[in-house]
Amino acid sequence: MILLTTSTGAKHIILLGAPGAGKGTQATVLSELQDIPHVSSGDLFRDNLKRETPLGLQAKSYMEKGELVPDDVTVAMVHDRLNQPDCDSKGVILDGFPRTVEQARALGKVLQQDGKKIDLVVYIQVPEDVLVQRLTGRWICRACQTVYHTLHNPPRTAAECDACGGELYQRSDDRPETVQNRLNVYFEQTLPLVDFYQEKGLLREMDGQQDIETVGTALLEVIQAKQPR
Ligand code: AP5
Ligand code: MG
Repeated sequence: MILLTTSTGAKHIILLGAPGAGKGTQATVLSELQDIPHVSSGDLFRDNLKRETPLGLQAKSYMEKGELVPDDVTVAMVHDRLNQPDCDSKGVILDGFPRTVEQARALGKVLQQDGKKIDLVVYIQVPEDVLVQRLTGRWICRACQTVYHTLHNPPRTAAECDACGGELYQRSDDRPETVQNRLNVYFEQTLPLVDFYQEKGLLREMDGQQDIETVGTALLEVIQAKQPR
């Protein structure tokens, strides 16, 4: 995760970690606690896909295979979102972006132009076997988006949401063969960001294998301390 501050005091936070590391889980809670917009590049793509926009249709084939959507498309999409008033005044919790060194460089330039900068990067670490188990067991409610896990948090009735009775579905990229490709892509294209931000003195590492609440508490401490190592 990357913490950025601006002269206006807005906070800009980016979560860094593998697919299944818990970026979305933590960003959702953090966003409420800190009143900072949560921007997930994956959610933006999925929303476009659902609405069958040209951007969504462009991203579809990459997402289904677990490949990254091209940098120029992704950077433009996130840039547009960052320019919206809520992000401008409050900052942002970025989840799933940047995911390549090129995206990180583009983000740095965009922020610099707006008088903002990255203050802190927190990298949420989880072993590969745990990531695979988390992703392949995940089911989501179509109606209210509640997340279940076949082993750790199963619904009371198979394929039905406990909270609202909605239908549960599996993300198409959570199928085992696609999960492995997403992880391979992560190790090749996203992991270099750890060195990239470490060299800038911004990186903080975090054990993402602990339970959700413990990770959340640790994360909050890091953000409140705002002390890059
Ligand atoms: P995206 O939507 O970003 O997916 P991802 O990061 O690959 O994977 P997840 O969202 O599953 O990981 P997460 O870390 O958010 O974990 P979560 O909190 O959900 O990207 C999807 C696709 O879009 C990409 O493959 C690519 O095609 C495209 N894309 C997106 N961004 C892009 C970019 N910047 N550039 C190019 N292409 C891009 O948790 C996972 C599961 O684990 C859940 O079931 C959760 O309940 C559970 N869990 C979480 N934390 C814990 C814990 N501490 N203990 C136990 N279980 C936990
Ligand atoms: Mg996510």
